Amino acid sequence: MSGLFISFEGGEGAGPSTLARRLAEALRLPGRAGVQTREPGGTKGAEAIRELLLDPKTVLSPLADTLLHFAARADHVAQVIAPALARNAVVICDRFTDSTLAYQGYGMGVALADIGTLIGLIGLKPNITFILEVPESIAKQRLLQRGGAADRYERMDAAMTARIAQGFRGIAAAEPARCRLLDASQGVDTVFNSILNTLKLQYHLS
Ligand SMILES: Nc1ncnc2c1ncn2[C@@H]1O[C@H](COP(=O)(O)OP(=O)(O)OP(=O)(O)O)[C@@H](O)[C@H]1O
Ligand SMILES: [Mg+2]
Repeated sequence: MSGLFISFEGGEGAGPSTLARRLAEALRLPGRAGVQTREPGGTKGAEAIRELLLDPKTVLSPLADTLLHFAARADHVAQVIAPALARNAVVICDRFTDSTLAYQGYGMGVALADIGTLIGLIGLKPNITFILEVPESIAKQRLLQRGGAADRYERMDAAMTARIAQGFRGIAAAEPARCRLLDASQGVDTVFNSILNTLKLQYHLS
C-alpha cells in the first residue's frame, strides 16, 4: 500500500478539525488526489456509530466505548482509507487511533496493551500525525466561542482532560518519527504554516 496517510490529533478544542480542513482546502481535497475524512465516522455505518458515541445521553463502559470506536474504524479503513491509499491518494483524517489511546486508554483507563492489540488488528498507521496541544483554559474558550451543544466527550471533567493531554504527550514521545507535537495556542495560520512546511520538507507536498 502506498499513498500518504496524515492524521490530526489533540484534545477537545485543540483544533484537529480546523487544521485537517485547512490542509484539505490547500491540497484541494476531496478530489482525484485524495480524501478528507474523520473519526469516528467516514462511512455510513461508522457515522451511525459516531452519533451514538457523541450523544451526551449515551452511557457506555470504557471497553464498550473503545470497541465501538474500533468497529467504526474497521469499516472506515476497509471502505475508505485503505482503498484510497491503494490508489496512491493522500488521506487526511481528523482523529485516528491515537485519540482512542489518549481518550479511552489514558483518559478512561482501558489497558493500553489491549488498545494496542486492536490497533494491530486494524493494521494501518498514519505516515505522519500532527498532535495539537493547548492549555485547557484556551481549549475551553475556543469551544465556547465555537458554540453549539457540548458532545459526550466535550463534557469530560478537568482530571480526565489532563490525563488525555498527558496521553497525547506520551504518544508523541513514544513515536517521534511519526508524531509532531505542535503548540496550537499559536494562531491557526502559524500552526498551519508549520504543518505545510513539515509536509513540504518530508513529502514534497505543496
Ligand atoms: N490554532 C488555533 N488558533 C486559534 N483558534 C483556533 C485554532 N485552532 C482551532 N481554533 C478554533 O477553535 C475552535 C475549535 O476548533 P476545532 O473544532 O478544530 O477543535 P477540535 O479540537 O477539533 O474540537 P472537537 O474535538 O470537539 O472536534 C474553532 O472555533 C476554531 O476556529
Ligand atoms: Mg474536532
